[in-house]
Amino acid sequence: MKGKIAVGPGDGIGPEIVAEGVKVLEAVSEKYGHEFVLTYVDIGGVAIDKYGEPFPAETAKLCRESDAILLGAAGGPKWEYPKVKVDANTGLLALRKEFGLFANLRPVKVFPGMVNCSPFKRDAVRGVDLIVLRENTGGLYFGQPKKRWRTDEGRMAVDSMVYSEKEIERLLRVGFELAQSRRKKLCSVDKANVLQTGQLWREIANELAPEYPDVELTHAYVDACAMWLLRQPRDFDVIAMGNIFGDIISDEASVLAGSLGMLPSAQLTGSGLVGTTFGFYESSHGSAPKHTGKNDVNPIATILSVAMMLRYTYGLKEETKCIEQAVEQALQNYRTYDVMEAGKTKVGTREMGDLIAGAIVTK
Ligand code: IPM
Ligand code: MN
Repeated sequence: MKGKIAVGPGDGIGPEIVAEGVKVLEAVSEKYGHEFVLTYVDIGGVAIDKYGEPFPAETAKLCRESDAILLGAAGGPKWEYPKVKVDANTGLLALRKEFGLFANLRPVKVFPGMVNCSPFKRDAVRGVDLIVLRENTGGLYFGQPKKRWRTDEGRMAVDSMVYSEKEIERLLRVGFELAQSRRKKLCSVDKANVLQTGQLWREIANELAPEYPDVELTHAYVDACAMWLLRQPRDFDVIAMGNIFGDIISDEASVLAGSLGMLPSAQLTGSGLVGTTFGFYESSHGSAPKHTGKNDVNPIATILSVAMMLRYTYGLKEETKCIEQAVEQALQNYRTYDVMEAGKTKVGTREMGDLIAGAIVTK
């Protein structure tokens, strides 16, 4: 097949990890006979330096002409507010809305042999394989009114958690479809005991459930979910929730895997499981400015983001699996510093990319 991908190396370690993601993509393309045309674009601090904004119109145009965006990492101290008008993160938030990337998938998988990398007990994290599905373009992040003002009694501020039926339904449908493609469990997370948005959320989840009879739907309040996630993380398959809850819970869940360097993410305009979808793919970690140019960071989050791209944007299941297995194979004997343990050989960013690409070609 043929594809068109916009690649934004971004800032800090971004270019280094993107290079390894591209290396792996090329290995897969060669093996399966695909052709992906890559267009390099400026996103983040590099774009602020060049165009004065983190996601300039030129970049947006190139991204619109592509099937997917692959980002290294964006931002860094040089481009933080108030040094710049719009910082890289705010730019990326606007991008979510502009491109309609309403479904944010943040998978947390503990690969076999990686149980020692987590700060939790081995038995608790062994076999953890879950996806935090975060609503990405609504809720508290975008609801109106959202402002600050002054009163006689002092300063005030408001953010509004607003959800429409349509927004909740399309997100939960992605949740049900994801669950169908996995272990068939969907946990819908809300705060229905207190919030109106939570009650609507739960109501809609229950209304949709009969359309997905093969999926077991459960509900959890977000506070209880935060607890169960650490107590029994293996119980979870797909966990769907609103924007702010997903922001918090996904950071919590990431600890299970031991290193952010292992965690990919996808932001989609649909599930990609029924038809294909435009997607924005990036690692879950930041631009780690201190590590720039050291060839020491873990490229696996970006490599697994490429795997997610093949699955959700292009529907290439076998290729996705091939990358995941190659990652697993490389990890058996080789580790970057963040997941290093006794008995393994320590390697750098490029070497890890070479090992994974090599495993793909020889498999
Ligand atoms: C994330 C980040 C962003 C968010 C910030 C940087 C705007 O924390 O992607 O989780 O809150 O969505
Ligand atoms: Mn966050």
